[in-house]
Amino acid sequence: MTGSPFILVVLFASISSGYAAATRREAPSNMNGRYVVASGGNQGVPFNDDYGSKGHEYFDVYSPEIATHYGEVFWTDMGNNAIPKEIVDRFKGKVMAITGYEQDQVMVSPTGKPGENPDEDVSVPINWAYNHHYMAWMTGTHSKMERIQNPDPNDVSAHGSPMKWIAVDLPSATERLNADIPTNQMFSEGNGGESRKSFHGYPDGYAQLIDSPNQWHITPMQIDTRNRDCGVTPKDINNCTKFTPGPEPRQSRYGYGIPKEGTPYAGILECPCNSRYGGDPLIYGKDEKTKIINHHYSTISKTSCDVANNIDNAGECFDSVATLGINVYKNVTVTKAGNSAPHGCTVEKQGEGWYATYNQYQSSGQCSVSSTKMGNATFDIGVKIAVDLSDSTATLTIIGPVDVWFAVGFNAVQMSDSPYTIVVNSDGVQERQIGTCGSEAEHCPGDVLNTTVKVVSTKTEDGTRTVILSRALKGLNSKYYTFDPSQDSQIKLISAVGSSQKFAYHKNHSTSVLPLVSPQGSTCICDLGKTGSLCETNGTNCQTFTKNCVAAPAGDLLSQRNPTCNSEQYAGGLRCCAHKRIMLDADQPIRPELLRYHMKFRFWFKEYAVDGEQVSHYNLPRIYYQTEAWAGEYDIPPAFALPGYPVIGYPDWPLNEPTPGTTCTGTCPGGEDCECIHTITYKWTVSNIRLIYAGGHCHAPSCISMELYRNDTGHNMELLCRQVPVYGKGNVTHNKFDETGYLALPPCLWGNDKGLNPSVLLPQNTPLVSIKKNRNTHMGHYGEMASWQMRGVTF
Ligand SMILES: *[C@@H]1O[C@H](CO)[C@@H](O)[C@H](O)[C@H]1NC(C)=O
Ligand SMILES: *[C@@H]1O[C@H](CO)[C@@H](O)[C@H](O)[C@H]1NC(C)=O
Ligand SMILES: *[C@@H]1O[C@H](CO)[C@@H](O)[C@H](O)[C@H]1NC(C)=O
Ligand SMILES: *[C@@H]1O[C@H](CO)[C@@H](O)[C@H](O)[C@H]1NC(C)=O
Ligand SMILES: *[C@@H]1O[C@H](CO)[C@@H](O)[C@H](O)[C@H]1NC(C)=O
Ligand SMILES: *[C@@H]1O[C@H](CO)[C@@H](O)[C@H](O)[C@H]1NC(C)=O
Ligand SMILES: *[C@@H]1O[C@H](CO)[C@@H](O)[C@H](O)[C@H]1NC(C)=O
Ligand SMILES: *[C@@H]1O[C@H](CO)[C@@H](O)[C@H](O)[C@H]1NC(C)=O
Repeated sequence: MTGSPFILVVLFASISSGYAAATRREAPSNMNGRYVVASGGNQGVPFNDDYGSKGHEYFDVYSPEIATHYGEVFWTDMGNNAIPKEIVDRFKGKVMAITGYEQDQVMVSPTGKPGENPDEDVSVPINWAYNHHYMAWMTGTHSKMERIQNPDPNDVSAHGSPMKWIAVDLPSATERLNADIPTNQMFSEGNGGESRKSFHGYPDGYAQLIDSPNQWHITPMQIDTRNRDCGVTPKDINNCTKFTPGPEPRQSRYGYGIPKEGTPYAGILECPCNSRYGGDPLIYGKDEKTKIINHHYSTISKTSCDVANNIDNAGECFDSVATLGINVYKNVTVTKAGNSAPHGCTVEKQGEGWYATYNQYQSSGQCSVSSTKMGNATFDIGVKIAVDLSDSTATLTIIGPVDVWFAVGFNAVQMSDSPYTIVVNSDGVQERQIGTCGSEAEHCPGDVLNTTVKVVSTKTEDGTRTVILSRALKGLNSKYYTFDPSQDSQIKLISAVGSSQKFAYHKNHSTSVLPLVSPQGSTCICDLGKTGSLCETNGTNCQTFTKNCVAAPAGDLLSQRNPTCNSEQYAGGLRCCAHKRIMLDADQPIRPELLRYHMKFRFWFKEYAVDGEQVSHYNLPRIYYQTEAWAGEYDIPPAFALPGYPVIGYPDWPLNEPTPGTTCTGTCPGGEDCECIHTITYKWTVSNIRLIYAGGHCHAPSCISMELYRNDTGHNMELLCRQVPVYGKGNVTHNKFDETGYLALPPCLWGNDKGLNPSVLLPQNTPLVSIKKNRNTHMGHYGEMASWQMRGVTF
C-alpha cells in the first residue's frame, strides 16, 4: 500500500459555472461532522468514522444550481460536471479507491458561484428542500453516461420514466492497463432525506474503484418545502426553525389537513397527488377528472360472464347498461328463483325497444351468441352512429352536423391507429384510410379508398345530416374494416367534425365504444375489471399503469393490494412527482420566490496500489433489493378508515378493521392506548455474497425499522442487519442537521476495523428475509420506501 502524505488538497469545480478554485488546509475533516454505524461499536471501541484521521484525502464538487418554487419538484439529470483538474491529472491512467463520500445541499455565496467561498456555504435544511433520493455517478476517460430506452417500465432506477441514464464503457475500456478495474461508479447508498447524517464509507481494504476518473453526474430528486412566508435566503436560516408548514394540497396527509397542534414535516414531501395531477375522487370529487376510474363494463359474445366478471347487484347492472349507452324502456329485477332470464345482467330486445334484466339467481337461461347484432354510439361532438349487422350486411346510420364534414373511424382510439373511416359531407360519402402519423396533432388525411358502401338514403333536418349506408360485412381488403358479429362484442370508434364541408384538419374529435347487442335472446353484460387513469387538471395527459408488484409468498404488496400498484388506486408518490410539477392544488397559487442551491459532495479517496498478489482495496459492487419489490415505493395506509375519512387507495375499506398490513395493540381505533404498525416482508435468495455495507432506505416521518435476516439451515431467522432511524430533535443551533422528525440511518458495516463485526460469506442459495415497519396509528404515508442499498464482494 502507498501511504498518503498528510497534506490535503481541497479543490472545487463545476464545469457549468466554470469554477475550479483550490485551497489548502492543515487538517482534514468530515464535511458533516461525526457519524454512527449500526453494527459493531458496542464492544467499547467505536468504529472510526473520521476519514481524515485515517489518512484519506478528499475533493469537493458542486452540482449546477437548482432553483425552485414552493411545492416544486426538481427531478432531472444535471449533465456532465467536472471533477477538479488536479485530481483528473493525478489519476490519469491510475486507479482511485473511493473510500466513502458525504453529501449536502448548500446555498452559496455569491449566489450562483459555487466553490468561490466554500466557508460561507449554508446548508439548506432538509425541511426547506427534501432530498427524496439521488443517483450520482463518477465516470472516467473510458466511460460515458448514456440515456437509454428503459427496457422495464417498472425498473425502479427509472421510476416510471420511459428513459433512464446508465454509465457505459467506451471502446477504449478493453485496451487499458487496468482492464479489470471499473470505468465508472454509481453512488446511491444511504441517499435521500436521511443522507447527510448517514455514513457512506467502507471498512479498510474496500472501496469503489475507478480508473482515470474525470467527471461526475447527478440526478437528484428534490421537493421544495420551504414556507415562503419564512424567507428563502441564507439570512432566513434561523427563521421558522421550528418547522412551519406551507400550504398543502387537500390530498396531502390522506385528507386530514395540517394538524392544529403543529407538525414536524411537510406533507408535500410525500408527493401527494393533487388537483394539478392525479388527485383522487374521494378528495376532489369525480368532476375534477384528475383520476378517472372506470369499470370496464362490456357486452360479451359468450353465453355467460366468467364468475369473476359477474355484475352482482341490480343498481350496478342498470347503471352499466346506461353507461354503455343502451337506452332501455324498463329495468327488471328478478325477485324469485326460476326465471328464465340468464344469471346476472342482461339486455333483451322487445318490439322496437330494449330492456335490462338483473337476475341474482342461478338460471338455465343463457345469453345468445348470434351472428346478427346491433348497437349505437354517440360522440360528444354531435355525431351518432347506429350499426345493424345481419349475416352478410352491415347497415350504418350516421348522423352529424349539416354545415360541416364529419367522420367515423372504426377499430381505433386515435388517428394514429390509421382506421378505416367514413367521411360524410354535402357531396356525399367517402371511404378513407387515415394516414399513419406520429402524433394525433399531425393532420393525416390518408388515402381515399374505392367505394364499397351503398348510400341507402340521405336526409337533412333540424341542422343534422343523416346518411344510411349498407356494406358487406367483410372488408374489400385489409384497408377496410371487417365486421364480425359472431365474434365482436363491441367496436371502438373515433369521430371528428370539420370546420367546413371540405375535408381538412378537424375542428374537434372524440372517441366512443359501440356495444353490440343481439336482437334475438339476451346479451350478457360483464364487469371486466376497473381501470384508472391519472390525469392533469380537466382530464388531460392521462396515464394508466400497472406496476409489477411482488406476489405472495415472496412479498406482500399484491396480497395487501397496496395502492402503489396501479393507477386506479394510486394516491401519492413518484408518479405524481414528475420534474417541475407543483405539489399543490390547481387553485393554490405558485409563489414567485426561488430557493437557489446546489448539491455538494465530498468524495474521500486513497490511491489504489497493487503489490504482487496483494491489492490495497477490493472493489465493492452494488447489491440492491426492495422489500417493496418491484414497485420502487409503496403506501402506508392509515391504520383505520374513519367516519368521513375513507382511506385513499382503499376507498371501500370498512370502519373498525385494520387496513391491509396493519396490526394494532390497545383499544383501537379510538382509545388513547391504540398503537398501530404497518409491516411488509420480502423473501428472496442470494448466493455467495459477503456483505460489507448495508443501508436501508426509508423516509421520514414514520419509518420504525428495517431488518434483514438470513434464514438458511442452522441460521434460523438470524439477524444480519437492523436499521433504526435516528430522528432529529430540532436542536439545530447545536447541530444544523438535527431537524425535528427527519432522520439519519446508521448503516451496517462489516470488516476487520476496530469496532466492526466480521463479515460473513452467505453461501449458495441463502434465503434472506426483509421486514419493514412503519407507524400508522393516526396517519398514512404515500411513496414510502424500503430498499436495501448494499455493497459487498463474492468471495
Ligand atoms: C420569519 O418568519 C415569519 C413567519 O413565521 C415572518 O412573519 C417573517 O417575515 C419572517 N422573517 C423574514 C426575514 O423572512
Ligand atoms: C334504468 O336504470 C338506469 C340506471 O339507474 C336509469 O338511468 C334509467 O333511466 C332506467 N330506465 C328506466 C326506464 O327506468
Ligand atoms: C339504436 O338507436 C335506434 C334509434 O334511436 C333505436 O331504435 C335502437 O333500438 C337503438 N339500439 C340499441 C341497441 O340501443
Ligand atoms: C370539442 O367538443 C367538446 C365536447 O363536446 C367541447 O367541450 C369542446 O368545447 C369542443 N372544442 C371545440 C374546439 O369545439
Ligand atoms: C380501386 O379500384 C381500382 C380498379 O379496380 C384499382 O386499380 C385500385 O387499386 C383500387 N384502389 C384501392 C385504393 O384499392
Ligand atoms: C380547466 O377547464 C376550465 C373550464 O373549462 C378552465 O377554465 C381551466 O383553465 C382549465 N384548466 C386547465 C389547467 O386546463
Ligand atoms: C425460515 O425458514 C424456516 C425453515 O425453512 C421456515 O419454516 C420459515 O417459514 C422461514 N421464515 C420466514 C419468515 O420465511
Ligand atoms: C441543544 O444542544 C446544546 C449543546 O449540546 C445544549 O446545550 C442545549 O441545551 C440543547 N438545547 C435543547 C433545547 O435541548
